[in-house]
Amino acid sequence: MKVVVITPTYNEKGNVEKLINILEEEVFPKIKNHDMHILVADDNSPDGTADAIKKLMQKWKNLDVNVGEKQGLGAAYVRAMTYAVDKMNADVMFQIDADLQHDPAKIPQFLEKIDQGYDMVIGTRYSDGGSIPAGWPIQRKIFSILGNLVVRTILLKFSIHDWTGGFRVLRKEVFLKEKNELTSFKGYTFQVSFLNKAVRDGFKVAEVPFHFGERSIGDSKIAPMAYITDLLKYVITASIKEKLFGTFGKFLVVGGTGFIIQLIVYKFIIGSSNLPLGLANLLSAQLAIFSNYNLNNLWTFKHEKSSNLASYFVKMLGFFATSNVGVLIIQSGLIQLGEIFFGRNYPLPYVYFVLATGVLLIYNFSMYRFVIWRKKPHQ
Ligand code: GDD
Ligand code: MN
Repeated sequence: MKVVVITPTYNEKGNVEKLINILEEEVFPKIKNHDMHILVADDNSPDGTADAIKKLMQKWKNLDVNVGEKQGLGAAYVRAMTYAVDKMNADVMFQIDADLQHDPAKIPQFLEKIDQGYDMVIGTRYSDGGSIPAGWPIQRKIFSILGNLVVRTILLKFSIHDWTGGFRVLRKEVFLKEKNELTSFKGYTFQVSFLNKAVRDGFKVAEVPFHFGERSIGDSKIAPMAYITDLLKYVITASIKEKLFGTFGKFLVVGGTGFIIQLIVYKFIIGSSNLPLGLANLLSAQLAIFSNYNLNNLWTFKHEKSSNLASYFVKMLGFFATSNVGVLIIQSGLIQLGEIFFGRNYPLPYVYFVLATGVLLIYNFSMYRFVIWRKKPHQ
C-alpha cells in the first residue's frame, strides 16, 4: 500500500529536517511491505520551513510539501490529506507532529495494526505502555490527563483512552467519509471531532501506546484557553446531538407516530364494539407495528437495514413477533388488568393506554437495538 506520513509544520525548520532524516534513514528501510512517502503540511512558516523542505526534496524523491494559508492544525491536515489522496494516491496516511515528540520508530507498530485490518490506529499516552513526559510540571500533567477524562466522560465513550493526541494512522476511506464534516473545528479540536465521527460510523479503531517525548527546539503552538473552550464546545454539542438526534431520538419520533396510529384505531374499536380493552389494543397495535417497522428500517436503523426482499420479510416477521410479545404481555396485559380492576368508564381506557405504552417503550427499544438492528461491524 502507498503510505504517506503527513507532518504539519508551523516554524519547525530544525525539527522537521531531523524528523525527515530519521524517517528516511532509520524507519523506512525497516518497512518492506509498503511504499513509504512523506508530506509536510506547512502554513507559510516565516522561518522558511517550506524552502528547507524543497531543498531536501532533491535528495529524497518520496518527499513532498503542501503549502497553504495558516488556519490552524485541523485545517492544515484536511488540506494535506486531500492532497495526499488526490495528488499522491495515498491509501494510508499518518499524522505525526514535526517536533519529534512523537517517536517515528513506532511507525511499523502502527502499520501492523493496519495490516491486521484496522481502519484507524490511535497512539495513546494514557494506557499501559504509554506516558506523558516525566519532566512536565504537575499542573500540565493534570491538565493533560483531566482533559482526556473529561472528553471520554462527556462523550460517554470509554474504550478509547487518548482522544486529543496527534499521533495516528488511518485508511483513506476514513478521511473520505468524514472529510465534508471536518470543516467546523480548524484547530487542535479537529483530532477529537475526527476520531468521534470515525467511531460513530463504525470504523475499526485500535490503540498503540507510546511515550510522548519533550520538545527540544521551538515552542508549542497551542493557545490553551482557546483550545479548552473549543474542545468543550465540540464535545458538549456533539454529545447532545448524538443523544437527541441519534438512534434513540429517531426511535422516539417513530414511536410517536406509531402511538398516534394505534390510538386512533384503538379509539375506533372501543367506540364501535364491546371488545375487551386488552384485545382492542392488540388489534389496534398491528397497523402501528407495520408502520413502525418500515420507518425504523428506512430511517432510525438505516445503516443496518435489510438489503433484499427476503431479509426485509424475515426481519418484519421478527419485528412483529417481538413487538407483539411486548404488546400482548406488557401493553394489553396492563390495559386488561386496568379494565378488570377499575372498569372502562371514560377516560380510563386512555389512561391505561398511555401508562402501558410508557412501559412498553423501554422494552421495545432494547429489543430493536440489541436484537433486530444490532450494530454490524463496518465493512
Ligand atoms: N501547518 C500547521 N498549521 N501546523 C501546525 C499548526 C498550524 O496552524 N499548529 C501547530 N502545528 C504543528 C506544529 O508545528 C507541530 O508540528 C504539531 O502541529 C503539533 O503542534 P505543537 O505546538 O507541538 O503542539 P503540542 O505539542 O503542544 O500539542 C500536543 O497536544 C495536542 C493536544 O493534545 C500534541 O500531542 C498534539 O499532537 C496534540 O494534538
Ligand atoms: Mn509539540
